[in-house]
Amino acid sequence: MSRKRVLVYRQLPPEQLARIRCEYDVIEANPRIPDQQQAFLDALPEVHGMIGSSYLIDDAILAQADRLEVISSISVGVDKFELDALARRGITLCHTPGVLTETVADLLFALILGASRRLVELARYVQDGCWNKSIGDELFGWDVHGKTLGIVGYGRIGQALARRAALGFGMPVLYHARNPVDSGLPEGKAHAVPLDDLLARSDFVTLVLPLTPQTQGMMGPREFALMKPGAILVNGARGPIVQEDALVRALDSGHLRAAGLDVFDVEPLPLDSPLRTHPKVLPLPHVGSATHETRIAMSVLAVDNLLAALGGGRPPAVYRLPPVAG
Ligand code: DGY
Repeated sequence: MSRKRVLVYRQLPPEQLARIRCEYDVIEANPRIPDQQQAFLDALPEVHGMIGSSYLIDDAILAQADRLEVISSISVGVDKFELDALARRGITLCHTPGVLTETVADLLFALILGASRRLVELARYVQDGCWNKSIGDELFGWDVHGKTLGIVGYGRIGQALARRAALGFGMPVLYHARNPVDSGLPEGKAHAVPLDDLLARSDFVTLVLPLTPQTQGMMGPREFALMKPGAILVNGARGPIVQEDALVRALDSGHLRAAGLDVFDVEPLPLDSPLRTHPKVLPLPHVGSATHETRIAMSVLAVDNLLAALGGGRPPAVYRLPPVAG
């Protein structure tokens, strides 16, 4: 019997690639690299499994992949997949929750500190040779400890961020979640509130919720106007949750003090995006989970998922797809 085939569409560490090769034939083709696009498309009709991330897998792609049984995403977010189409076609989707929680929470806290204490701007001041006397108050930052942190989306990452803020920095935490969820913190340290309250009362508003049709564009002119004057927005979720033109206006008007952004509507961030060089924006290239340890852990879990699913076993992290309509 011929071996099943796996399409690897993002680079994997060699040890993880070797684990797949032991059991299956592997085709490597990254559709985000122009000269590998055709190889990616050519492979689709042949493959039983796919592993990768950061590329839109829609119904048109799935229609070419008749034999596909499983896609293992090397990400926790599943917004790059047309979920209804996967469900309709009976394809299993796996992802990598859990292993990146603390790493992403670290990065979000770095964005809170970096935006508020103006770390990148001040480092550039030193690097540019401008530090020839003590800085004046035009370069002072703002305290983080003791300020109110609003967390929109209170899953694993939101809760890990809340722990850092409440227990490490003495910050009152407000959170907003789709479904009722326990704060996970000692009594009185965090409170579930409606979104509008959270926006109006928080010094920092941090987005850590999934991108779905319901959350797309949810931070627009109305929401920015509701935020406290001088508040800071941190987005570690997905770019399209924020209406970027409205954010730029809120920063330009002085209503918002700053924004720390790890994600953008279009990634990589286009050179002509006003957010790229905006003096009040601390931009990062979508690196929430990008540490050596965590990216390895994500690859290991993604390969575990793939091998279990293709082998007829129970993958450790299957994403629950929506019920098939009709
Ligand atoms: C995730 O795992 O969803 C991270 O945002 C990387 O894409």
